[in-house]
Amino acid sequence: MCGIVGYVGSERCSDILVDGLRRLEYRGYDSAGTAIMEGGETHILRSQGKLSNLSVLIDEQKPQGTVGIGHTRWATHGRPSEQNAHPHKYGNVAVVHNGIIENHAALRAELEASGHTFSSETDTEIVAHLIDDAFKETKDSLESVRQALCRLEGAYAISVLLDGVPDQIICARQDAPLILGVGENENYIASDVPAILNRTRDMIFLEEGDIAVVRAEGIAISTLDGKSVERKPQKIMWDAMMAEKGGHKHFMLKEIFEQPRAVTDTIRDRVSPTTGDAFIDDFDVDMETLRRVVIVACGTSYHAALVGKFLIESMARIPVEVDLGSEFRYRDPLINKHDLLVGVSQSGETADTLAALREGRGKGARVLSICNVVGSTIPRESDGVLYTHAGPEIGVASTKAFTTQLAALTLLGIHLGRRTGALTEPKAKELINDLLALPEQMKEVLDHSATVDVIARRYANARDFLYLGRGMNYPIALEGALKLKEISYIHAEGYPAGEMKHGPIALIDENLPVVVLAPRGSGYEKIINNLAEVRAREGKVIAIASRGDNEIGNKVDDVIQIPDVRTELQPLLTVLPLQMLAYRIADIRGTDVDQPRNLAKSVTVE
Ligand code: AGP
Repeated sequence: MCGIVGYVGSERCSDILVDGLRRLEYRGYDSAGTAIMEGGETHILRSQGKLSNLSVLIDEQKPQGTVGIGHTRWATHGRPSEQNAHPHKYGNVAVVHNGIIENHAALRAELEASGHTFSSETDTEIVAHLIDDAFKETKDSLESVRQALCRLEGAYAISVLLDGVPDQIICARQDAPLILGVGENENYIASDVPAILNRTRDMIFLEEGDIAVVRAEGIAISTLDGKSVERKPQKIMWDAMMAEKGGHKHFMLKEIFEQPRAVTDTIRDRVSPTTGDAFIDDFDVDMETLRRVVIVACGTSYHAALVGKFLIESMARIPVEVDLGSEFRYRDPLINKHDLLVGVSQSGETADTLAALREGRGKGARVLSICNVVGSTIPRESDGVLYTHAGPEIGVASTKAFTTQLAALTLLGIHLGRRTGALTEPKAKELINDLLALPEQMKEVLDHSATVDVIARRYANARDFLYLGRGMNYPIALEGALKLKEISYIHAEGYPAGEMKHGPIALIDENLPVVVLAPRGSGYEKIINNLAEVRAREGKVIAIASRGDNEIGNKVDDVIQIPDVRTELQPLLTVLPLQMLAYRIADIRGTDVDQPRNLAKSVTVE
């Protein structure tokens, strides 16, 4: 999730661009840059690391131009570096981009075959080459951009400057947000409201496929097929902090709602519905000698790892062992070169997970990490990495990182299953199609969470909660309990439903809300028996059930329904109401949802 800004007007634009990029700081960045028009040509300034590094460059060079674009990069393809920083310039064209171009490899090969040479590892640079080629033919800036965009598959929000066309910026969007700010004889471009809210409250939200030519005197918008369209400006009344949260009260709530997009971005261009395969960039496993998968992680990432065990064992029929980083690192683990060691970590800096991976690697295991922060320590010390594309996760309680970890582990299961032969091509195609359809179902669950609000109000003052699940939903019970306790400070425990009779049932009384994960599928009948045991002892049962299950309603106190999906994908849906329940209860209790007491976003100490 990168950040784009642009300005066309009569003021020196460098300060406006840097200020806009700074207001996008919550999106995270590992490099930043600007392209500013001077003397009819764009001049590029770029730096790795914090935005302050770019400011130093700008202070030194003092660009005077009044038309320019800027970018902060949250790396998804290509490591953080000045070379991979945006803007990318080729010939007369400078481009900044947010999104993922799925067919970048094929386009790059085609362009190289026609003599193009590339200076970066990014998918974005291709856009500059395509536009420059088209501009040489058409001499029409808008038509050149349009022709280039028609070659792209995937998501883009782009802004383009062309040498020789000094008074305009062309921008466009497809599956990635882009906003235009309307000023007095000046106009703005931004990925998000906060970047320009201090300059104007009149904003145009471009729609899918829109292309805009932005000049100081006005904005002309058309569609990809060339039709002019009118997009009315909206008056934004948010304050700055609200704007950074996308209008949500907390970052956590914003990130809960970002999950469908984050999962789409994580699986996009890594699965092929036609061949039924899943790809892991630049990493291969020696399937001849692979004996076992060992996954290590902490906290929420550990819960994702537990789901990963079910996924990989069911798809690839390879034994999977899961352990906490803090335990694995001290137990002199039995692990060797025949094991694949997987480290799951949002931050890529968790000390216990890092130490566990070093321990395993030291004993000969190959290491694959699943991580959300490009260039962080854990990926740097791995033999391969499967990055989740959740974008920066600001809320301490992990949500979108968790569901993108589940998506990544599903990709790993498919990848291994196709190579062991345990997952047939037809089954894999089915699974991939269902996975590609899942973000829409996730969105449906999140958009219909009013029932959760009612339940939250009913139980916000409970002293304890119990969460029960079976099979792949047992780790989701653990995750739901963790979410609740870490942000609402209510004690909560996740338990395998089958274990109830071995002790926890003694806890049941009329004051104990029990959340039961009861979607259709294997173990459903057993779960129904478990929740009956709870009800028989006056426990209050909140069930997460499959839509269309009309039986369960009269067996529980509350029911939250989710779409019916195949077992392997259920956790990506069952976790959503639990995240929302924890959030709503915490919000009612007035705790610091984004920065709960005693917690840190990344535990870099032992
Ligand atoms: C999750 O909500 C917590 N913030 C915490 O358990 C977290 O998952 C854990 O510290 C692991 O962090 P990592 O994913 O960055 O390694």
